[in-house]
Amino acid sequence: MKGNANHPIIAFYAKAIAEMKKNPSDMTNPTSWRYQGAIHDYLRPNATDAQRQARDPLFTTTDILPPPSEQLKFWRTCQHQSWFFLPWHRMYLHHFERIIMGHVARLGGPTDWALPYWNYSGSKTFGIPFPGSALLPGPFRTGGLPDLFVARREPLANQGQPFADATATDIKRCLQEPFPSSGSSGGFLGLKTVSNHAGGPAEGAVESSPHDLMHGAIGGSGGLMGNFIGAPLDPIFWLHHCNIDRLWEVWIARDTTHKNPVDPDWLTTSFDFHDAKGNPVSMKPSEVLDTKAAPLSYVYDDISDPV
Ligand code: C2O
Repeated sequence: MKGNANHPIIAFYAKAIAEMKKNPSDMTNPTSWRYQGAIHDYLRPNATDAQRQARDPLFTTTDILPPPSEQLKFWRTCQHQSWFFLPWHRMYLHHFERIIMGHVARLGGPTDWALPYWNYSGSKTFGIPFPGSALLPGPFRTGGLPDLFVARREPLANQGQPFADATATDIKRCLQEPFPSSGSSGGFLGLKTVSNHAGGPAEGAVESSPHDLMHGAIGGSGGLMGNFIGAPLDPIFWLHHCNIDRLWEVWIARDTTHKNPVDPDWLTTSFDFHDAKGNPVSMKPSEVLDTKAAPLSYVYDDISDPV
């Protein structure tokens, strides 16, 4: 990686995170670091301080939380083991990316800043040739950029040593999974379920591997990436998910039988987020299927078929 910490995409990602982390006890600002993490998962509003301290890695005794009604609407909403896994996380990345882009613009960073992906199975990282792609990218490790480093990871990852086995970094297996029309196999993207936060029976292949296995490998024993509350508080989470999001595009492109669901129950279920100004917005899967169109407006540099 060596020079990557100076790459403007990464350097400004770190600076923007530092901005989001300001006023850390104030969890009422929707564009703050901890609020963005809580969207994924948080304790329920009636949790005691002791319970929050046990599970929120950034807990402070002076935390100010939003009203319970707001927490119930916007927090703890990640979709797992479900056919909403891919679109929900795409929406989550999108709103987070807009917040970061706002900070990058204010800080004078690249005007075309976009969330990078970490292709742990490729030859490039951040679009830069990088043969050690399965290693945690340098700027996130010990000695990297302080705002991208977290201690609570598998130590080998932070040391720049191999930490994930070949199954965890294998992106080829899930890409060969079909559209999940029926049956008990989740296919590529997961089986039909109601929106259920977590714990459903319907995990798709891309969610189990590389997604779940990489979470576990990076988190190691007790690390942030190993649980729903801690994961988004590790800056590598967003690059991991960006790669998962990219794999969705690779899967669609590689086989004409690979299509998104057309079931209205999938297309029109709406989820709540905030825009970069902190205003509430809602979004449906039907609005995030074409990454090149507004509001997403991004294109991956590489959706070639690795299989
Ligand atoms: Cu909702 Cu990788 O997690």
